[in-house]
Amino acid sequence: MPGSRRRACPDRPGRFADPTALTLLRPDEREAVQWVRDGVPPRTWRQRIDYETVRAAAELMAPRTIAIDDAIRAHPSRQLVILGAGLDGRAWRMPELAGVAVFEVDQPATQQDKRERAAGLPGTPPRFVPVDFGRDRLAATLAAHGHRADLATTWVWEGVVPYLTRAEVAATVAELATCSAPGSRLVVNFQSHAASTALGRVVARLLMASTGRSRLTYEIAERGNGVTSLTVTHELEGAPQTLAQVAGEVEGAGGGWAEILSDLKSLLETGSPLYA
Ligand SMILES: C[S@@+](CC[C@H](N)C(=O)[O-])C[C@H]1O[C@@H](n2cnc3c(N)ncnc32)[C@H](O)[C@@H]1O
Repeated sequence: MPGSRRRACPDRPGRFADPTALTLLRPDEREAVQWVRDGVPPRTWRQRIDYETVRAAAELMAPRTIAIDDAIRAHPSRQLVILGAGLDGRAWRMPELAGVAVFEVDQPATQQDKRERAAGLPGTPPRFVPVDFGRDRLAATLAAHGHRADLATTWVWEGVVPYLTRAEVAATVAELATCSAPGSRLVVNFQSHAASTALGRVVARLLMASTGRSRLTYEIAERGNGVTSLTVTHELEGAPQTLAQVAGEVEGAGGGWAEILSDLKSLLETGSPLYA
């Protein structure tokens, strides 16, 4: 679901609207977003995981996006560089950026994918600057694409720091310092090392551990006349949470192996899986 999470809550009334959102998604990625926007959880377990993932991430991203948009508006500058832009739609959707030189920095493959997705968006596209923070010289590559180190720049670094090593973060900040004229600003979000965050991770790990381990065995045997039997045994004695889910006792979950086997059967019989 690349980028789907960012796209999940566009066009809601209020302070958050993103008219670029659905265009930037491929048709198969729009489905989970549409479920979340409609507020209607899907029935199957697998779809429900997609739904909950997109919903939870969207809760975080809408306020984050509003805060960063506000920060950009609060101190207008002639250059905006979006670092690790992903499916950021600001270049197209923010009228305040008319006349601003907008640069999007990202890994080359991600950027190529973004160009294809954005082909149908109206408005002025950003200047695409392919850079891998761990490998390439950011300042020099930006300069080669028209960035001016003598003009103030607003840098946006949203949702990227957690994906980088400490050394990559330090090297990138050092690069920014070499091409940030006075008046430049860096808008960045990153994970805090707060005790509550660490506690949350521990609780999540304990919850995972409390579900226990289960054992799955496949037996495939030829039965003659072109018939092959597949026996799947899932031993769940030590995994009460998984047992409850597979048994359909957890609201919104269930289906488990029955659904997976139906999917496999459809694939073998028709060449297409039940669930794309
Ligand atoms: C979770 S996405 C965030 C995208 C966007 N900023 C947002 O908030 O929706 C992380 C982005 O960082 C980019 N990224 C991760 N590691 C990178 C690296 N070493 N160099 C350049 N970009 C990187 C990814 O390609 C991706 O576009």
